[in-house]
Amino acid sequence: MKLYSRITGTGSCLPPQRLSNEDLVKQLALTGVETSHDWIVERTGIRARHFAADGVYSSDLAFEASKNALTMAGIGPKDIDLIIVATSTPDMVFPSTACILQNKLALTSEDAKGIAGAPAFDIQAVCSGFIYALSVADAMIVSGAAKRALVVGAEVFSRILDFQDRTTCVLFGDGAGAVVLEASDHPGILSTDIHADGKHVGILCVPGHVNQGKILGDPVLKMNGQAVFKLAVGVLDETANAALKKANLTAADIDWLIPHQANIRIIQSAAKKLKLPMEKVILTVADHGNTSAASIPLALDVAMRSGKILPGQHLLLEGVGGGFTWGAVVVRV
Ligand SMILES: CC(C)(COP(=O)(O)OP(=O)(O)OC[C@H]1O[C@@H](n2cnc3c(N)ncnc32)[C@H](O)[C@@H]1OP(=O)(O)O)[C@@H](O)C(=O)NCCC(=O)NCCS
Repeated sequence: MKLYSRITGTGSCLPPQRLSNEDLVKQLALTGVETSHDWIVERTGIRARHFAADGVYSSDLAFEASKNALTMAGIGPKDIDLIIVATSTPDMVFPSTACILQNKLALTSEDAKGIAGAPAFDIQAVCSGFIYALSVADAMIVSGAAKRALVVGAEVFSRILDFQDRTTCVLFGDGAGAVVLEASDHPGILSTDIHADGKHVGILCVPGHVNQGKILGDPVLKMNGQAVFKLAVGVLDETANAALKKANLTAADIDWLIPHQANIRIIQSAAKKLKLPMEKVILTVADHGNTSAASIPLALDVAMRSGKILPGQHLLLEGVGGGFTWGAVVVRV
């Protein structure tokens, strides 16, 4: 009998500090950076974002999102035998945020045996990170290497923003989303499709690195917005169609498109190319901004908990990000 992986629980976490565009505009004006609510909304669809307080790390947000996903799945930390965290803003250079999360979850459980020995690792594919992590977890479950995985996207992008650069600092936010993925005889994840092209490293990157106790290079986000925009729209369409083909479905079979929440204009173009009406698109970009690897599982959790997503429906998840990386996953709920 064919083995599949199924999403049995979702969870998310947004840090409590919410900055509306107006709040951010005021804050930036204090250092002479000019922007406006109207510019941000018109070009991106973003109206607010959440920023983590000092001392709150990706693993803290991942921890809260994971607890919520485990509760929905009706299982505990001891039942988890694989942890994958997608993040570009890890707590430390090493060990992985997944190991830090593992320890936090183990400490909440009287019987931590399962999770304390489970393999745990991070995936770095920037805003495509959750799609990559879900693809890897699915492959490990289908191969029999794992039975119950915790797959998380968690970011504190506010830490790597240059608040003197108005072309980037208005776009991003912090948050985490998680899913529990379990082995099952029934689908489940129907197809996955992931790609990268390293020749585009320079158009979206944080070039700094640690060397001999110092940071060399610029440790803040650099982006060629127009180049990213153009590339994103093309590759999202390619990967969405590739994932649909692998699942023997067409866009008409999709009940909900859950795209990476970078920019409403990219999302609208992607939906239009697939001939999907915007009523079938899950949107959180206005309230969350771009939370990178966290954006897709955050949007998924919001839609699950709002009751929009129903059993038996088909979801198309798609992401694109630095690297350049991109990918899509087709899911039957
Ligand atoms: C970043 C982005 C919103 C900029 O929009 P755009 O329409 O390309 O805007 P441009 O870069 O051409 O800039 C237009 C003008 O707005 C100005 N501008 C840029 N940021 C601004 C801001 N926050 N507030 C006000 N004005 C701003 C520019 O300086 C420029 O002014 P000029 O014409 O006087 O030179 C857009 O390129 C984009 O969404 N790119 C994709 C980004 C993304 O999603 N990245 C993550 C992918 S995972």
